[in-house]
Amino acid sequence: MAEKCLLTGLQPSGQLHIGNYFGALKPFVDSYAEFESFLMVVDYHALTTLKDPAVLRQNIIDIVKDYVAAGVDPSKVTLFKQSDVQEHTELAWIFETLVSVPFLMQAHAYKDKVAKGLEANAGLFNYPMLMAADILLYDTDIVPVGQDQRQHVEYAREAAAKFNLAFGQTFKEPEEKISDAVAVVPGTDGQKMSKSYKNTIPLFGTREEIAEAVMSIVTDSSGDKPANVYAIHKLFKPEAELTSIYASSKGNYKKLKEALIEDIDAYISPMRTRRDAIDDEAVKEILKEGAVKAKTIASAKMADVRQKIGVTL
Ligand code: ADP
Ligand code: TRP
Repeated sequence: MAEKCLLTGLQPSGQLHIGNYFGALKPFVDSYAEFESFLMVVDYHALTTLKDPAVLRQNIIDIVKDYVAAGVDPSKVTLFKQSDVQEHTELAWIFETLVSVPFLMQAHAYKDKVAKGLEANAGLFNYPMLMAADILLYDTDIVPVGQDQRQHVEYAREAAAKFNLAFGQTFKEPEEKISDAVAVVPGTDGQKMSKSYKNTIPLFGTREEIAEAVMSIVTDSSGDKPANVYAIHKLFKPEAELTSIYASSKGNYKKLKEALIEDIDAYISPMRTRRDAIDDEAVKEILKEGAVKAKTIASAKMADVRQKIGVTL
């Protein structure tokens, strides 16, 4: 039997934070060796919010370094950039002709933006169909993501079902993989950690940046321990070990935060060292090889799709 396929992608829209790491990247790193695996830099998704070419270019380089530093071996996965495989945008268009406007209007990412009174561009509106194309082109079985992406994977299933019904069995329906413990990593204010909420702890920040973020974690004095500090701390140290630390420093939030800074730094420093050793040329080489591998699979799939929808004569 063919190996199952695991695939995920992150947007090069800013510095990765520990929510991205524990919610999506680490679950990928922990299991990718058991699958035929794909890891994307979804740069066309980032374009829905980012319009600065110099920043985008730098973010793309940075995120590939982050992937490798976090433990992804480029020789064991297809690591590529979405914009290098034009089949993604092509298939997204086809899916857009199969789903309705009211269906896309129900997508949280779009709804939230409109609810905040912001003007959503048409790219943001169609975003779930580009994500569906990302996933479905590779016959993906499992998509490791954080809780906020659950609905988008459902949308991918819907796109697959709609296409299969209209044109015959072509796409596999994928499943999201979301672990309860890290589904929603809280930020320094206790809300979901997110690049757009300015409440992040950067994954590859300097020790000073991490310390500053940790010191800004909002503490409340209601429970027997500062809930927000603890919720982040348990990602870095087993709860069995935390019990005594939180008991002996009860009420001393400064000391507990210092312990957290130590633990984050100890966890991240080997990755930081690995990251510093990767140069930009190596990143370009990784993406070039990944694009060739991804393109081979995606173009075969699209040849079948074009045949089925009736545009190949
Ligand atoms: P952000 O909200 O910071 O812009 P993205 O939307 O780029 O993050 O998310 C990239 C990946 O990281 C997705 O799989 C998403 O579900 C996951 N993720 C983002 N924030 C969190 C969080 N706070 N907890 C768990 N997973 C998260
Ligand atoms: N929408 C995802 C996010 O904001 C990123 C993404 C795009 C993705 N395509 C994907 C995630 C395919 C998993 C699989 O985080």
